[in-house]
Amino acid sequence: MRWAVANANVALVKYWGKAPGCEHRPATTSVSVTLENLASAARVEYRPPGAADRVAWEPAGPTQELGRFVELGRSRLGIDRPLDVLVTSNFPVAAGLASSASAYAALSTALGSLAPEPPRTDRLAALARRGSGSACRSMLGGFVQWRPGDDAGAVTQLAPAEHWPLQVLVVVTSTLPKRVPSREGMHRTRATSPFFDAWLIATEQDLTAVREAVASRDLHLLGPAVERNALRMHATALGADPPLLYWEAATVAVIREVWRLREEDGVPAFFTVDAGPQVKVLCEPVDADRVALALASLPGVRRLLRSRPGGAPRLLPGPPAWAAPRHAHGS
Ligand code: DP6
Repeated sequence: MRWAVANANVALVKYWGKAPGCEHRPATTSVSVTLENLASAARVEYRPPGAADRVAWEPAGPTQELGRFVELGRSRLGIDRPLDVLVTSNFPVAAGLASSASAYAALSTALGSLAPEPPRTDRLAALARRGSGSACRSMLGGFVQWRPGDDAGAVTQLAPAEHWPLQVLVVVTSTLPKRVPSREGMHRTRATSPFFDAWLIATEQDLTAVREAVASRDLHLLGPAVERNALRMHATALGADPPLLYWEAATVAVIREVWRLREEDGVPAFFTVDAGPQVKVLCEPVDADRVALALASLPGVRRLLRSRPGGAPRLLPGPPAWAAPRHAHGS
Protein backbone atom coordinates (compact mmCIF):
# COMPACT_ATOMS: atom_id res chain seq x y z
CA MET A 1 0.00 0.00 0.00
CA ARG A 2 1.32 3.46 -0.90
CA TRP A 3 0.06 6.87 0.16
CA ALA A 4 0.89 10.18 -1.47
CA VAL A 5 -0.24 13.65 -0.55
CA ALA A 6 -0.29 16.74 -2.78
CA ASN A 7 -1.32 20.34 -2.22
CA ALA A 8 -3.89 22.38 -4.12
CA ASN A 9 -2.73 25.47 -6.00
CA VAL A 10 -4.21 28.84 -6.76
CA ALA A 11 -3.52 30.54 -10.06
CA LEU A 12 -2.00 34.02 -9.96
CA VAL A 13 -2.24 34.13 -13.76
CA LYS A 14 -5.10 31.92 -14.89
CA TYR A 15 -5.29 28.98 -17.24
CA TRP A 16 -8.59 29.69 -18.97
CA GLY A 17 -8.62 28.23 -22.45
CA LYS A 18 -7.07 25.14 -23.98
CA ALA A 19 -4.89 24.77 -27.03
CA PRO A 20 -7.06 23.36 -29.82
CA GLY A 21 -7.05 19.59 -30.17
CA CYS A 22 -4.97 18.76 -27.08
CA GLU A 23 -5.97 17.04 -23.85
CA HIS A 24 -5.89 19.89 -21.36
CA ARG A 25 -2.90 21.68 -22.81
CA PRO A 26 -3.23 25.39 -22.17
CA ALA A 27 -3.64 28.17 -24.70
CA THR A 28 -1.55 30.50 -22.52
CA THR A 29 1.10 30.35 -19.80
CA SER A 30 -0.25 30.35 -16.24
CA VAL A 31 1.44 30.88 -12.86
CA SER A 32 0.26 29.46 -9.56
CA VAL A 33 1.24 29.11 -5.96
CA THR A 34 1.02 25.71 -4.33
CA LEU A 35 -0.97 25.96 -1.09
CA GLU A 36 0.27 24.40 2.14
CA ASN A 37 -2.21 22.16 3.98
CA LEU A 38 -4.98 22.31 1.39
CA ALA A 39 -4.29 18.80 0.35
CA SER A 40 -5.52 15.60 -1.23
CA ALA A 41 -4.24 12.16 -0.38
CA ALA A 42 -4.22 9.11 -2.64
CA ARG A 43 -3.84 5.51 -1.54
CA VAL A 44 -2.94 2.85 -4.09
CA GLU A 45 -2.81 -0.84 -3.41
CA TYR A 46 -2.54 -3.94 -5.61
CA ARG A 47 -5.57 -6.15 -6.09
CA PRO A 48 -5.34 -9.84 -6.94
CA PRO A 49 -4.43 -10.60 -10.58
CA GLY A 50 -7.56 -10.73 -12.76
CA ALA A 51 -9.62 -8.54 -10.41
CA ALA A 52 -11.17 -5.29 -11.63
CA ASP A 53 -9.81 -1.94 -10.45
CA ARG A 54 -11.59 -0.47 -7.46
CA VAL A 55 -11.66 3.31 -7.40
CA ALA A 56 -13.19 5.68 -4.85
CA TRP A 57 -13.10 9.45 -4.50
CA GLU A 58 -14.37 10.53 -1.10
CA PRO A 59 -16.47 12.41 -0.48
CA ALA A 60 -18.25 12.00 -3.80
CA GLY A 61 -15.79 13.19 -6.48
CA PRO A 62 -16.10 12.22 -10.18
CA THR A 63 -15.22 8.54 -9.69
CA GLN A 64 -15.76 7.52 -13.33
CA GLU A 65 -13.18 10.00 -14.55
CA LEU A 66 -10.85 8.77 -11.86
CA GLY A 67 -11.27 5.20 -13.10
CA ARG A 68 -10.28 6.21 -16.64
CA PHE A 69 -7.32 8.09 -15.25
CA VAL A 70 -6.10 5.05 -13.33
CA GLU A 71 -6.18 3.05 -16.58
CA LEU A 72 -4.18 5.74 -18.35
CA GLY A 73 -1.66 5.92 -15.50
CA ARG A 74 -1.23 2.18 -15.45
CA SER A 75 -0.50 1.97 -19.16
CA ARG A 76 1.83 4.98 -19.19
CA LEU A 77 3.81 3.85 -16.17
CA GLY A 78 3.92 0.15 -16.97
CA ILE A 79 1.94 -1.06 -13.93
CA ASP A 80 0.55 -4.47 -14.82
CA ARG A 81 -1.66 -5.25 -11.81
CA PRO A 82 -5.24 -4.23 -10.98
CA LEU A 83 -5.43 -1.52 -8.36
CA ASP A 84 -7.46 -0.40 -5.42
CA VAL A 85 -7.42 3.40 -5.37
CA LEU A 86 -8.78 5.89 -2.90
CA VAL A 87 -8.59 9.68 -3.21
CA THR A 88 -9.70 12.06 -0.51
CA SER A 89 -9.24 15.77 0.27
CA ASN A 90 -9.21 17.88 3.41
CA PHE A 91 -11.28 20.74 1.91
CA PRO A 92 -14.56 21.11 -0.04
CA VAL A 93 -14.51 19.22 -3.33
CA ALA A 94 -15.59 20.85 -6.64
CA ALA A 95 -16.30 24.23 -5.08
CA GLY A 96 -13.60 26.18 -6.87
CA LEU A 97 -10.90 25.11 -4.44
CA ALA A 98 -8.90 23.12 -6.99
CA SER A 99 -9.50 19.78 -5.30
CA SER A 100 -9.09 18.04 -8.65
CA ALA A 101 -5.61 19.56 -9.02
CA SER A 102 -4.38 18.18 -5.70
CA ALA A 103 -6.25 14.90 -6.21
CA TYR A 104 -4.68 14.13 -9.60
CA ALA A 105 -1.26 15.29 -8.41
CA ALA A 106 -1.48 13.00 -5.36
CA LEU A 107 -2.70 10.09 -7.46
CA SER A 108 -0.01 10.57 -10.12
CA THR A 109 2.62 10.57 -7.37
CA ALA A 110 1.18 7.44 -5.77
CA LEU A 111 0.96 5.63 -9.14
CA GLY A 112 4.51 6.74 -9.96
CA SER A 113 5.71 4.95 -6.83
CA LEU A 114 4.43 1.65 -8.28
CA ALA A 115 6.15 2.08 -11.65
CA PRO A 116 9.01 -0.36 -12.36
CA GLU A 117 11.24 2.62 -13.31
CA PRO A 118 10.93 5.70 -11.06
CA PRO A 119 9.42 8.34 -13.39
CA ARG A 120 10.77 11.88 -13.66
CA THR A 121 8.59 14.71 -12.33
CA ASP A 122 8.05 15.93 -15.92
CA ARG A 123 6.43 12.65 -16.78
CA LEU A 124 4.23 12.62 -13.71
CA ALA A 125 3.21 16.22 -14.39
CA ALA A 126 2.24 15.21 -17.95
CA LEU A 127 0.13 12.41 -16.48
CA ALA A 128 -1.48 14.67 -13.85
CA ARG A 129 -2.40 17.14 -16.60
CA ARG A 130 -4.50 14.48 -18.29
CA GLY A 131 -6.65 14.27 -15.14
CA SER A 132 -7.00 18.02 -14.82
CA GLY A 133 -4.84 20.65 -16.48
CA SER A 134 -4.05 22.64 -13.36
CA ALA A 135 -2.97 19.44 -11.56
CA CYS A 136 0.38 19.54 -13.32
CA ARG A 137 1.20 22.75 -11.39
CA SER A 138 0.58 20.92 -8.08
CA MET A 139 3.43 18.54 -8.97
CA LEU A 140 5.86 21.25 -7.86
CA GLY A 141 6.00 23.36 -4.70
CA GLY A 142 6.18 27.12 -4.34
CA PHE A 143 5.57 29.41 -7.31
CA VAL A 144 5.01 27.41 -10.48
CA GLN A 145 4.72 28.24 -14.16
CA TRP A 146 3.01 26.08 -16.81
CA ARG A 147 3.70 26.80 -20.46
CA PRO A 148 1.80 25.69 -23.57
CA GLY A 149 3.49 23.19 -25.87
CA ASP A 150 5.38 19.96 -25.28
CA ASP A 151 5.27 18.33 -21.88
CA ALA A 152 9.05 18.33 -21.45
CA GLY A 153 9.88 21.41 -19.41
CA ALA A 154 6.29 22.73 -19.55
CA VAL A 155 5.99 22.98 -15.76
CA THR A 156 8.77 24.80 -13.93
CA GLN A 157 9.30 26.25 -10.50
CA LEU A 158 9.77 30.03 -10.49
CA ALA A 159 10.65 30.04 -6.78
CA PRO A 160 10.41 27.60 -3.87
CA ALA A 161 7.83 28.09 -1.11
CA GLU A 162 10.42 29.51 1.33
CA HIS A 163 11.27 32.28 -1.13
CA TRP A 164 8.18 34.27 -0.14
CA PRO A 165 6.08 33.31 2.91
CA LEU A 166 2.99 35.20 1.75
CA GLN A 167 -0.30 34.50 3.49
CA VAL A 168 -3.14 33.12 1.41
CA LEU A 169 -6.57 33.31 3.03
CA VAL A 170 -9.17 31.12 1.38
CA VAL A 171 -12.59 32.63 1.94
CA VAL A 172 -15.28 30.00 1.44
CA THR A 173 -18.63 31.51 0.46
CA SER A 174 -20.32 28.28 -0.64
CA THR A 175 -19.65 24.59 -0.17
CA LEU A 176 -21.97 23.53 -2.99
CA PRO A 177 -20.48 22.11 -6.20
CA LYS A 178 -19.70 24.86 -8.70
CA ARG A 179 -22.43 25.62 -11.23
CA VAL A 180 -20.40 24.91 -14.37
CA PRO A 181 -17.17 22.86 -14.18
CA SER A 182 -14.02 24.71 -15.33
CA ARG A 183 -13.65 22.34 -18.26
CA GLU A 184 -17.05 23.17 -19.69
CA GLY A 185 -16.63 26.83 -18.80
CA MET A 186 -13.35 27.04 -20.69
CA HIS A 187 -14.76 25.36 -23.78
CA ARG A 188 -17.80 27.59 -23.78
CA THR A 189 -15.70 30.72 -23.31
CA ARG A 190 -13.36 29.86 -26.15
CA ALA A 191 -16.23 28.92 -28.47
CA THR A 192 -18.56 31.84 -27.77
CA SER A 193 -16.97 34.77 -25.92
CA PRO A 194 -16.06 37.67 -28.23
CA PHE A 195 -13.51 38.69 -25.57
CA PHE A 196 -11.47 35.50 -25.70
CA ASP A 197 -8.80 36.78 -28.09
CA ALA A 198 -8.34 39.90 -26.01
CA TRP A 199 -7.95 37.69 -22.91
CA LEU A 200 -5.08 35.80 -24.57
CA ILE A 201 -3.25 39.06 -25.27
CA ALA A 202 -3.90 40.58 -21.83
CA THR A 203 -2.55 37.49 -20.11
CA GLU A 204 0.91 38.10 -21.55
CA GLN A 205 1.04 41.49 -19.90
CA ASP A 206 -0.06 40.11 -16.52
CA LEU A 207 2.52 37.32 -16.75
CA THR A 208 5.41 39.73 -17.08
CA ALA A 209 4.31 41.63 -13.97
CA VAL A 210 3.66 38.47 -11.92
CA ARG A 211 7.00 36.85 -12.77
CA GLU A 212 8.85 40.04 -11.87
CA ALA A 213 6.84 40.47 -8.65
CA VAL A 214 7.56 36.91 -7.54
CA ALA A 215 11.28 37.28 -8.27
CA SER A 216 11.47 40.50 -6.26
CA ARG A 217 8.84 39.56 -3.59
CA ASP A 218 6.95 42.72 -4.39
CA LEU A 219 3.33 42.44 -3.19
CA HIS A 220 2.51 45.90 -4.53
CA LEU A 221 3.43 44.73 -8.02
CA LEU A 222 1.96 41.23 -7.64
CA GLY A 223 -1.40 42.13 -6.13
CA PRO A 224 -2.76 44.48 -8.82
CA ALA A 225 -1.62 42.11 -11.61
CA VAL A 226 -3.29 39.13 -9.90
CA GLU A 227 -6.57 41.00 -9.35
CA ARG A 228 -6.56 42.32 -12.89
CA ASN A 229 -5.93 38.87 -14.34
CA ALA A 230 -8.74 37.28 -12.32
CA LEU A 231 -11.21 40.01 -13.25
CA ARG A 232 -10.27 39.68 -16.91
CA MET A 233 -10.79 35.93 -16.79
CA HIS A 234 -14.25 36.42 -15.30
CA ALA A 235 -15.05 39.22 -17.76
CA THR A 236 -14.18 36.88 -20.63
CA ALA A 237 -16.34 34.14 -19.11
CA LEU A 238 -19.23 36.58 -18.60
CA GLY A 239 -19.06 37.25 -22.32
CA ALA A 240 -19.76 33.59 -23.13
CA ASP A 241 -23.13 32.48 -24.44
CA PRO A 242 -24.87 31.38 -22.24
CA PRO A 243 -22.91 33.57 -19.79
CA LEU A 244 -20.76 32.16 -17.00
CA LEU A 245 -21.23 33.90 -13.68
CA TYR A 246 -19.32 32.06 -10.97
CA TRP A 247 -19.77 34.60 -8.20
CA GLU A 248 -22.24 34.73 -5.32
CA ALA A 249 -23.25 37.88 -3.45
CA ALA A 250 -20.66 37.06 -0.78
CA THR A 251 -17.93 36.85 -3.44
CA VAL A 252 -18.59 40.50 -4.31
CA ALA A 253 -18.79 41.45 -0.63
CA VAL A 254 -15.32 39.97 -0.03
CA ILE A 255 -13.88 41.75 -3.07
CA ARG A 256 -15.30 45.07 -1.88
CA GLU A 257 -13.94 44.54 1.63
CA VAL A 258 -10.47 43.79 0.24
CA TRP A 259 -10.62 47.06 -1.69
CA ARG A 260 -11.86 48.90 1.40
CA LEU A 261 -9.08 47.45 3.55
CA ARG A 262 -6.58 48.75 1.03
CA GLU A 263 -8.09 52.13 0.34
CA GLU A 264 -9.30 53.14 3.83
CA ASP A 265 -7.04 51.17 6.20
CA GLY A 266 -3.93 51.03 4.03
CA VAL A 267 -3.65 47.22 4.36
CA PRO A 268 -2.03 45.64 1.28
CA ALA A 269 -4.40 42.75 0.59
CA PHE A 270 -5.32 41.50 -2.88
CA PHE A 271 -7.84 38.93 -4.14
CA THR A 272 -8.18 36.34 -6.83
CA VAL A 273 -11.16 34.16 -7.79
CA ASP A 274 -11.09 30.88 -9.76
CA ALA A 275 -14.07 29.25 -11.48
CA GLY A 276 -16.24 29.27 -8.39
CA PRO A 277 -17.53 31.60 -5.69
CA GLN A 278 -14.57 31.36 -3.27
CA VAL A 279 -12.09 34.22 -2.91
CA LYS A 280 -8.40 33.79 -2.16
CA VAL A 281 -6.75 36.79 -0.54
CA LEU A 282 -3.02 37.44 -0.56
CA CYS A 283 -1.39 39.53 2.14
CA GLU A 284 1.73 39.80 4.29
CA PRO A 285 1.81 37.51 7.37
CA VAL A 286 1.83 40.57 9.65
CA ASP A 287 -1.58 41.67 8.28
CA ALA A 288 -3.20 38.24 8.15
CA ASP A 289 -5.12 38.42 11.48
CA ARG A 290 -6.58 41.77 10.66
CA VAL A 291 -7.62 40.78 7.14
CA ALA A 292 -9.06 37.46 8.36
CA LEU A 293 -11.10 39.22 11.05
CA ALA A 294 -12.54 41.71 8.57
CA LEU A 295 -13.48 39.03 6.03
CA ALA A 296 -14.78 36.33 8.39
CA SER A 297 -17.58 38.56 9.68
CA LEU A 298 -18.99 39.45 6.24
CA PRO A 299 -22.47 38.10 5.48
CA GLY A 300 -22.32 34.87 3.47
CA VAL A 301 -18.77 33.96 4.47
CA ARG A 302 -18.94 30.33 5.61
CA ARG A 303 -15.35 29.52 6.48
CA LEU A 304 -11.91 30.99 6.27
CA LEU A 305 -8.89 28.76 5.73
CA ARG A 306 -5.35 30.02 6.17
CA SER A 307 -2.58 28.87 3.95
CA ARG A 308 0.74 29.92 2.47
CA PRO A 309 3.11 28.67 -0.20
CA GLY A 310 3.57 24.93 0.25
CA GLY A 311 5.69 22.11 -1.06
CA ALA A 312 5.66 19.41 -3.72
CA PRO A 313 3.78 16.08 -3.42
CA ARG A 314 5.21 13.55 -0.99
CA LEU A 315 5.00 9.82 -0.51
CA LEU A 316 3.97 8.78 3.00
CA PRO A 317 4.19 5.49 4.88
CA GLY A 318 0.49 5.79 5.86
CA PRO A 319 -2.41 8.24 5.61
CA PRO A 320 -1.80 11.88 6.57
CA ALA A 321 -3.13 12.75 10.06
CA TRP A 322 -6.29 14.38 8.70
CA ALA A 323 -7.26 11.23 6.74
CA ALA A 324 -6.08 8.72 9.32
CA PRO A 325 -9.23 8.15 11.42
CA ARG A 326 -11.19 6.78 8.45
CA HIS A 327 -8.50 5.24 6.31
CA ALA A 328 -5.75 3.89 8.55
CA HIS A 329 -6.49 0.26 7.69
CA GLY A 330 -7.75 0.61 4.12
CA SER A 331 -11.42 0.67 3.16
C1 DP6 B 1 -10.10 28.83 -13.14
O1 DP6 B 1 -7.52 22.56 -14.39
O2 DP6 B 1 -9.83 22.43 -13.42
O3 DP6 B 1 -8.90 27.33 -11.76
O4 DP6 B 1 -7.96 21.15 -17.38
O5 DP6 B 1 -10.40 21.09 -17.77
O6 DP6 B 1 -9.45 19.97 -15.75
P1 DP6 B 1 -9.32 21.11 -16.74
O7 DP6 B 1 -9.52 22.46 -15.91
P2 DP6 B 1 -8.94 22.91 -14.50
O8 DP6 B 1 -9.12 24.49 -14.65
C2 DP6 B 1 -8.65 25.41 -13.72
C3 DP6 B 1 -9.17 26.76 -14.07
C4 DP6 B 1 -8.95 27.85 -13.05
C5 DP6 B 1 -7.68 28.63 -13.37
C6 DP6 B 1 -6.36 27.97 -13.02
O9 DP6 B 1 -6.28 27.16 -12.08
O10 DP6 B 1 -5.38 28.34 -13.67
